[in-house]
Amino acid sequence: MQLIHQIPEWNKHIEEIPTLYSSGPVIHETATINNSKMGNWVEIGPYAEIIESVIGDYSYVAGVHTSITYADIGKFCSIASSVRINPVNHPMQRVTQHHCTYRRKQYGFDIHDDDNLFAWRKAHRIRIGHDVWIGHGVIIMPGVNIGTGAVIGSGAVVTKDIAPYTIAVGVPAKPIKTRFCEETIHRILASKWWNWSHEELQSRFLWFLDPAYFLNNLEKLQNLHEEAAIDQPSISTGC
Ligand SMILES: CC(C)(COP(=O)(O)OP(=O)(O)OC[C@H]1O[C@@H](n2cnc3c(N)ncnc32)[C@H](O)[C@@H]1OP(=O)(O)O)[C@@H](O)C(=O)NCCC(=O)NCCS
Repeated sequence: MQLIHQIPEWNKHIEEIPTLYSSGPVIHETATINNSKMGNWVEIGPYAEIIESVIGDYSYVAGVHTSITYADIGKFCSIASSVRINPVNHPMQRVTQHHCTYRRKQYGFDIHDDDNLFAWRKAHRIRIGHDVWIGHGVIIMPGVNIGTGAVIGSGAVVTKDIAPYTIAVGVPAKPIKTRFCEETIHRILASKWWNWSHEELQSRFLWFLDPAYFLNNLEKLQNLHEEAAIDQPSISTGC
């Protein structure tokens, strides 16, 4: 995971997002990155804006004009164009909700900005699990959690938490179905495959094309490990 305050020098001359053959994050030259952390194999596309967020390994914002603020995003997430993750709120309870009440310095209203307001916004982070697909033009509102494996259909406005492996659509977003049956969801979640090493992912790549094949192979692997564990000679303490 790398802490990125601005676009790294080695990425400034990239014209287009290239095929990824190296593990470092690849960030388009037009993207704005502010104090964010990114994992390996991450791609950030044109005109994206990433503010104080964490983006896990292999996740990508490959389209254009996506904005992510105060969000913790897992691994293997697919985020489309024109997505807004965490459009922060204005203080509606004040006489004016204009940002001059907190960006006070820029208007000459105070020598300090309103740190409490900024802290309140930062407290409403968004948490997105692993392998979440966020469709075109989605808006995810402050404080929402989206479970691993979920799908958010294009144009949705997500105002409430979405459970793992659930497909949600509409304004406000509502679940319409799950990707798999309950047992399959449970077993895929338990596998925690997103934590496998790159080498494990390479050697098991074909497993990912079919959930039944994946779970079958996983079971065989677990049985092998159990047998290997049984075969291990117990270490005698000599007592
Ligand atoms: C959510 C999605 C994955 C569902 O696909 P699906 O499983 O094939 O679903 P269906 O097309 O069978 O639609 C199921 C129902 O949901 C509705 N629906 C599907 N997508 C919808 C959306 N984005 N917004 C509102 N309703 C939607 C359909 O009208 C249908 O309603 P009905 O049962 O009343 O007829 C897909 O529609 C979608 O939005 N994909 C995102 C595409 C995208 O943004 N890609 C960007 C590049 S990464």
